[in-house]
Amino acid sequence: MNVVLLGAPGAGKGTLASQMCQAYGLRHISTGDMLRAHMREATALGLQARAYVDAGKLVPDALIIEMVRERLNEPDCQKGCLLDGFPRTAAQAEALGAIAKIDMVLYIDVAVEALVKRISGRRVCGKCGTVYHTSWHDREECAKCGEPLSIREDDKPETVLRRIEVYNQNTEPLIGYYREKGLLKTVDGSGTPEEVFEAVKTLVEKRV
Ligand code: AP5
Repeated sequence: MNVVLLGAPGAGKGTLASQMCQAYGLRHISTGDMLRAHMREATALGLQARAYVDAGKLVPDALIIEMVRERLNEPDCQKGCLLDGFPRTAAQAEALGAIAKIDMVLYIDVAVEALVKRISGRRVCGKCGTVYHTSWHDREECAKCGEPLSIREDDKPETVLRRIEVYNQNTEPLIGYYREKGLLKTVDGSGTPEEVFEAVKTLVEKRV
């Protein structure tokens, strides 16, 4: 099963992806995580991507599509993937259709005020990548590895608003694109992570 997670910045895609990958044995393909790894390692792609990511803009389609194509061709992806943050443009959606068969697109629907609240409290472990929120984790270290937590460079308030704008312009139209293809399922993302995952489980298990 190949699943696409669609949702605005801060909707909870990464959080839901961890739950789903654990439950269904899917491979988590997050283009945001992949780009951040390239930036950390200062690869050629990372150096090209940094200015876009830090400013809250989209990295050019050609770079992203090639990165995802290579990743999806790797053997561990053959049993099923969960795409988080890809596609984000019409060109990426077309390219994905030619690379892989998509079985389901889950759109996580969250109001803008909640997105901003979620992003402004997000803290991330620089070592193991675990994501926290200050509302339920008020320590400054990772509960798993003890490393200090940090705020993502693109989570600054002015960049967050830009990312939401970029999402509305480029990615929101994909909701209609996948609805027309009969692949879209909408999930109310306003509840707790556990409630959102329960709703998704019902949808996935109905389909299987
Ligand atoms: P990316 O990393 O994909 O960022 P994003 O889509 O903006 O999404 P986020 O990671 O901000 O949020 P999320 O939905 O995963 O929420 P999370 O689970 O962390 O992309 C970053 C950048 O990379 C882009 O801006 C772009 O520059 C570039 N890029 C990436 N892909 C690209 C592509 N395809 N094309 C071009 N450029 C690309 O949750 C957020 C917070 O809320 C956390 O603190 C979490 O604990 C909390 N939370 C989660 N769920 C809930 C809940 N149900 N209730 C309460 N709190 C919750």
